[in-house]
Amino acid sequence: MLKEGDLSKTPKHIAIIMDGNGRWAKKRFLPRFMGHIAGVKAVKHVVEYCGAKQIEVLTLFAFSSENWRRPKDEVAKLMDLFIGTLDKEIGRLDKKNVRLRFIGERAEFSEKLQQKMSESESRTENNTGLTLVIAANYGGHRDITLATQALARQVKAGHLQPEDINENLIAAELSIPDLPEPDLFIRTGGEKRISNFLLWQLAYTEFHFTDKFWPDFNAQAMQDAVDDFLTRQRRFGRTSEQVEGPSEIN
Ligand code: IPE
Ligand code: IPE
Ligand code: MG
Repeated sequence: MLKEGDLSKTPKHIAIIMDGNGRWAKKRFLPRFMGHIAGVKAVKHVVEYCGAKQIEVLTLFAFSSENWRRPKDEVAKLMDLFIGTLDKEIGRLDKKNVRLRFIGERAEFSEKLQQKMSESESRTENNTGLTLVIAANYGGHRDITLATQALARQVKAGHLQPEDINENLIAAELSIPDLPEPDLFIRTGGEKRISNFLLWQLAYTEFHFTDKFWPDFNAQAMQDAVDDFLTRQRRFGRTSEQVEGPSEIN
């Protein structure tokens, strides 16, 4: 069965592809990297917004499994920026009761970055406010592939029959199985694609695209996206009449 998400109005989980840093910088005749630095400010704005509006989960795509294909120098600078930003912001996030989690394959990151990631997760694991999920070296295909391997191992061990594999068992092996699926997906920077983000989890998510480059994204832009979301009718396969009807929800 497809997980239905929340029928009540406000989004519980917002997932964002933060795109357009490079073009933001280019427009200003700056090196691409300055766009990434400017993008950190936008992250602070959206975290602030989600905290204030009591959004439960914010997932940010920070680095895709395909972003290793970028020039070595840009990748190295991004890694330094991740470490520097974690160092600088973890205290503030903790104070704001934010719980930080990472999804994606960490083994390819430096020891130092992996250490910072697990330290910041443990430091904030008992926080009860916003759950901030950072997707780093994340790819939707890889996520589903790893889930498939895990299920295949259970079959091989005789704990599971192939015909008993269902959507719930697959979802349980993916990243963040304990969190609600995204209600709202935002992509900045004008492109209209998923770029291998949360493929499975976006099955019934509402999409909002904006031409704004990520460094220009702020609380107002976030509010505009939420307002757009609020105009949507989520039908999950049903008819409008069923969704609007007084008692029909089955
Ligand atoms: C998104 O901005 C940041 C990362 C992928 C790390 P881009 O760097 O992709 O910016 P554009 O798309 O080149 O403008
Ligand atoms: C998606 O942006 C990944 C992140 C924002 C981290 P890209 O800029 O890498 O996506 P494509 O290559 O344009 O699809
Ligand atoms: Mg891009």
